[in-house]
Amino acid sequence: MTVGIPKEIKNNESRVGMTPAGVFELVHKDHKVFVQTGAGEGSGFFDEDYKQVGAVILDTIGQVYSMSEMIVKVKEPIEEEYGLIQEGQVIFTYFHFASSEPLTKAMIESGAICIAYETVEDEEGTLPLLTPMSEVAGRMAIQQGAKYLEKPKKGRGVLLGGVPGVPPGRVLVLGAGIVGIQAAKMAAGLGAHVTILDINMKRLRYVNDVMPSHVVTEFSNEYNIRKHVRTHDLIVGGVLVKGAKAPNLITRDMLKTMHPGTVIVDVAVDQGGCVETTRPTTHEDPIYIIDDVVHYSVANMPGAVPYTSTVALTNVTLPYVLALANKGWRKACAEDGSLKKGLNIVEGEVIFKEIIEAFGWDAAMA
Ligand SMILES: NC(=O)c1ccc[n+]([C@@H]2O[C@H](COP(=O)([O-])OP(=O)(O)OC[C@H]3O[C@@H](n4cnc5c(N)ncnc54)[C@H](O)[C@@H]3O)[C@@H](O)[C@H]2O)c1
Repeated sequence: MTVGIPKEIKNNESRVGMTPAGVFELVHKDHKVFVQTGAGEGSGFFDEDYKQVGAVILDTIGQVYSMSEMIVKVKEPIEEEYGLIQEGQVIFTYFHFASSEPLTKAMIESGAICIAYETVEDEEGTLPLLTPMSEVAGRMAIQQGAKYLEKPKKGRGVLLGGVPGVPPGRVLVLGAGIVGIQAAKMAAGLGAHVTILDINMKRLRYVNDVMPSHVVTEFSNEYNIRKHVRTHDLIVGGVLVKGAKAPNLITRDMLKTMHPGTVIVDVAVDQGGCVETTRPTTHEDPIYIIDDVVHYSVANMPGAVPYTSTVALTNVTLPYVLALANKGWRKACAEDGSLKKGLNIVEGEVIFKEIIEAFGWDAAMA
């Protein structure tokens, strides 16, 4: 198969769909890989690295699309790319169709096979191609939180690890899922005192089993949240209710009860956030302050660490890319139920019914 790796052209996206290690695997299976010049630069992979493992470097994005049977990307195609996509071409990337009707219509019209990373689902019901980005964001939440706790960054002036004779900082983590556990682990590693809340007792039991004793679990309810926000320096929002907006666990009135300079990193911002005062921010302008509380709510946190994010993402996408290239999409999806769940739009037909529901379309229309 011919596989194309275009350069991402969405604003501020430095990740790339495949590393040289992925190209190496494909070339060894006798596939031809076209990489657009400069595609990997933002993630620290250069044309020479790709050439060394057998990729053909092409000058333009148009060449990559026109010469490839399958395109492997990171972000959904943006308007400039719609016209480049060909009938019958496999596009394997994050699509998040429900958030864009124009994108959905363009992909229906293209006649392409759109396989979305975010809906590939394994037997346990987890989303293996989303997990690495939650891992990155959870760990980054502590790195960012520690930075904004510094006084010149408008924080409380607390060092998370403390020093001999001074108690460590206190970190409150809402949600003991992937983001929450990674955040708790990083904070604990720095020596902070960590309180982690969830409504799922299985998750709390797991955290209690695997974390050191300065990570304390508690059940998530309004009473406990009100109690803890007053005494913690850094609060991480990592709550997810599948298919719904994140619940507002921290309400506006609670901000006044916090120490001035408390930092909230609301990772769940992409689902509306679990703090009433959360609004999405960008890496260029990541924070804002309400009632002396620093809010950090960047909607694409992994974008700031493209090397780590690219490698983490391509580690999990590569087995699927190889299956698609070796067997063709029909056979690969027929033999692997997880990959089949990634099929969203196939040759003009919407397969993933939640998309139709999201836009309130008549099922017959799609
Ligand atoms: N901002 C970013 O760049 C970025 C990056 C990756 C993920 N995210 C987002 O982070 C959020 C968390 O992702 P995840 O992968 O950790 O999800 P997850 O499903 O692994 O974990 C969510 C946890 O929230 C818990 N929860 C639900 N209701 C709760 C409540 N009322 N109180 C406490 N806990 C509650 C669940 O029981 C679960 O353990 C998602 O919205 C995800 O989209 C954002």
